This record gives sequence, structure tokens and C-alpha cells, in this order.
Amino acid sequence: MTRSDTVALEAPTAMPMDTSRWTNKRRDFLRMMGYGAGAAALGPMLMACGSSNSATQAETLRAQLVADEAFWTNVQNMFTLNPAKTFMNIGTAGSMPKQTLDLFDTENRKKAAESGNGYSNLLDLRKLAAPGFGVDPDELAFSANTSSGMCHAILGIPWQAGDVVVTTNHEHGGGLTPLNIAKDRYGIEISMIPMPVGNNQTAATYQNLFDERIRSLKAAGKRVRAVMWSSPTYKTGTLLPIAEIMQVVKQHELISIVDGAHLPGMMDYNYGELGMDFMSGAGHKWQCGPGSTGILIMRNKIRASNPLPLPKWYPVHTSSYSTRERTTNGTETFDIAASVTSCGSVHTPMFQALVNACQLWDSIGRKKIETYDLTLSAYLKEKVVERWGIGALYSPKDDPKLCCALTSWNPFRNPADVMDSVKSAAFVSRLQAEYPQGLIIRNSGFEVIGAANQHYAMRVSTHVWHDANDIDALVNAMWDLSGKMA
Ligand SMILES: Cc1ncc(COP(=O)(O)O)c(C=O)c1O
Repeated sequence: MTRSDTVALEAPTAMPMDTSRWTNKRRDFLRMMGYGAGAAALGPMLMACGSSNSATQAETLRAQLVADEAFWTNVQNMFTLNPAKTFMNIGTAGSMPKQTLDLFDTENRKKAAESGNGYSNLLDLRKLAAPGFGVDPDELAFSANTSSGMCHAILGIPWQAGDVVVTTNHEHGGGLTPLNIAKDRYGIEISMIPMPVGNNQTAATYQNLFDERIRSLKAAGKRVRAVMWSSPTYKTGTLLPIAEIMQVVKQHELISIVDGAHLPGMMDYNYGELGMDFMSGAGHKWQCGPGSTGILIMRNKIRASNPLPLPKWYPVHTSSYSTRERTTNGTETFDIAASVTSCGSVHTPMFQALVNACQLWDSIGRKKIETYDLTLSAYLKEKVVERWGIGALYSPKDDPKLCCALTSWNPFRNPADVMDSVKSAAFVSRLQAEYPQGLIIRNSGFEVIGAANQHYAMRVSTHVWHDANDIDALVNAMWDLSGKMA
């Protein structure tokens, strides 16, 4: 046995597992995969690719994950997820905890019983949610989702023909669509930076990429006005480093717009300290609120984190409009977030439920959740390196500033197969259909510098309802499937 074989077989058996919640299918599968007596039969499946260093790192991460197992089992039991499936696509959709569902149900029924309306800017709810995100209530708006927040942010800016927005070639349609509207409607120009992939990158890479692009546009006589970027990108799960990019933004005195679809509920960020003008996040993904909810952070006063003047901005979807000028100091002149939140009669139970989920996250501890999610992802990355080698990763692994709970890699034994979109889609559906845990992940297509065709990598989300066993089972199943599809 190689060193890696030993580790892969020893670590799981050393750990006591609570299997009481599992379906028979899941139990049988894990037994088959080597968590029981038949482990020795698995030798050929556990082909080693990584170094003994990465194996040691995987062991350390696994130990960290199981150290607090009882706590996380309690958290896992807060959800109503179908136990016959393993949901690893939180980047697309989360799941409301039971207590949030109960509150949503009660408030829906109360509203119906009392024929209630929803004419409100929901200030009381915004007051409850805002501290968890490091802002004041006038800086936190409820939107319909990330895409809606991106429309509010981008289409509210009075663009001039020739304004340049610097962005990346790995953006989501939720941010690109309003940018394209601004291009056609106002004549802005969009300058896209090709994104690196893989482990060989650091936070400084992005600082340099944005700075160099802005400088070269300026040198060519262009009027750069804003930077818009995803953190993380949904394609490779690369956490574009907000603090570093904000340094560039401030140095060039630009407007900053972050597509932070995945940030609320995953990362414990203090947006007052980060200082971007806009951050649009989802309420229904990692934050596990209801569908059709989002959180839009809007800079509305001058803080030390960003001394630039507030950009001019007009609400575009509202029934609350203030004609007051924006402040030039540390005190807001009006509640800008009210203008986004209040548009006719809104469905108040949705936002009550979102805030309930936010408060649950606050009580568990946002930092604790972030650490757990990232440790799951770090463990997954080490396991990927053991099996497929470091070159298979599209997500960075070694610079913590670039790591989040989305992990993306090429699972194919023949690496060129990652450019086959049909095969990639088949991988996703076979993983769910042919393995008893019903593993639900997604793939995403994106450009890779120097590649003739798009790469269609697998993307896995790791969140509070997962544990180290889920990661082991996923990696084993994906390795097995990649062998079958070779
Ligand atoms: C980076 C990014 N932006 C925007 C969106 C759109 O999210 P929503 O459905 O909340 O509008 C997604 C969805 O996956 C995303 O990953």
C-alpha cells in the first residue's frame, strides 16, 4: 500500500459515525466504499496522486471537522432536507431551516387571516439583520435576489456615454445583464479581464490584474468609472479578494460593485469595513432564506474604510424617493436602503423568514459557519489533489484570501474531456442517478486563458449540513464515475 492508500483507509474507520439519520442506501454505499469490513477490496480505487504532505493536510482537516461533530449534527438536524439525497449545490439554492419554515408559515397564515398588506420599508427587520453584516439599517436593503440587487445597483447610476466599467470574463448573467443594458442604453464600455484558474495564483494577482487594466485604459484616454466583480465567481469558486481590489478601486477613485451572490450565509464579512459602494447577495442560497429574497448593501455614509464621495445613484424600482443630496460625512442624509426595499406592497413574511434565518446564523456564529464551510472545502480540495492531482483544480487552494466554500475541478481521467459539454452534463446526472447518496452538484462552463474551448468543470458547494463523510463519499463516487466514463 502506498502512504496515500493507508491514509484514505485509516482516517474514516478511526472516526465514530452517527449513522442513525442515514438511509439504508447511504449506509450500504459507505460500507461498499470502505468504511467497514470490505475496505481492503478498495485498493485499486484509491490510486494516489497527491504527496504525503497533502495526505497529512487532509488528515488534519478531517480531524478539525470531526472535532465538533455533535455541534454540527445538531445544526444538520435543523433542516428538512430529503435524506435520500446529498445537496451540494447551495451555490444555486439553499434550504430553509425548520424554524424559518415554521415562522414563514405562521406569518403567511396571519397575513391571510388579517388580510394584511405589505406597504413598508421593513426598517424594523433591516435593524435586526444589519448588525450581522457590519452595517447600519440605512445601508442594508432587501432585494428580490442577487440579480435584482445588481439591477438596482448598476441601473441606478447615471452613466455617461464612454464611461468604462472594468469587470471579468467570469461574471454571472445577473450582473452582466444590467451592464449590457447600460451599454446599449447609455453607451458605457465594458472592459473584461480574463480570469486565471487553478492553484497558481494569489490575492496580489488580482490586485495587479485590476490595477494594470485600469492604468492601461487610462493611458489610452478612457474614462474608467467603475469596477464590477464577483466574489466569489460562480464558475471556479475563486474568491476575488475584496479588500485588495478595494485598494485599487480607491486609488483610482472608482465606483465599486460586488456581485456577492454567495457571500451572505457563507462568509462572515463586515461590509462597513470593506467599504464597497454596492454588494448584492442572495438570501436564498447560503443564507437559507426563502426564494425571492436578497440582501443589497449600499454605502450610504463616509466611513474610514472608503473616504471617496458617495456616487450619485437614483432608485429605479421603488415607491420611495428622496430628493436629498447624499451625505459628505459620516451621517446619512436619508435611508437609501428604504428606496430599494419599499416598492408597493411587498410580501412581508418572506423577509420575516429571511431575517429569522439571519438571526439563526448570528446565533450559531457567522465566523463559526464560515470556518466550517471553508474547512469542508479545504478538505475536499486536499482529497481532489490526492486523487486527481493539483492540476485538476480550477479553484485556488493555497492562498486563503482566494478560498471559499465552492470547489471546482476537472474530474475526467482524460483531462481533455472537460471541454466536452455533453460528457460534463452526463457526469452530473450520472452522479445523482447511479450513486445511492443521490449526490447533487452542478457543472459550469467558462473560458480558460489559452484554451481553444470552454472548460465544463464540476462545482461542489460545502455547507452546514455536510460532514467529512459526505466529502469522502463524494470523492469516492466521483473517482469511481470518472473511471467508468474514461
Ligand atoms: C455570481 C452569481 N451572481 C448572480 C447569481 C444570480 O443569483 P440570484 O438567483 O440570487 O439572482 C448567481 C446564481 O447562481 C451567481 O452565482
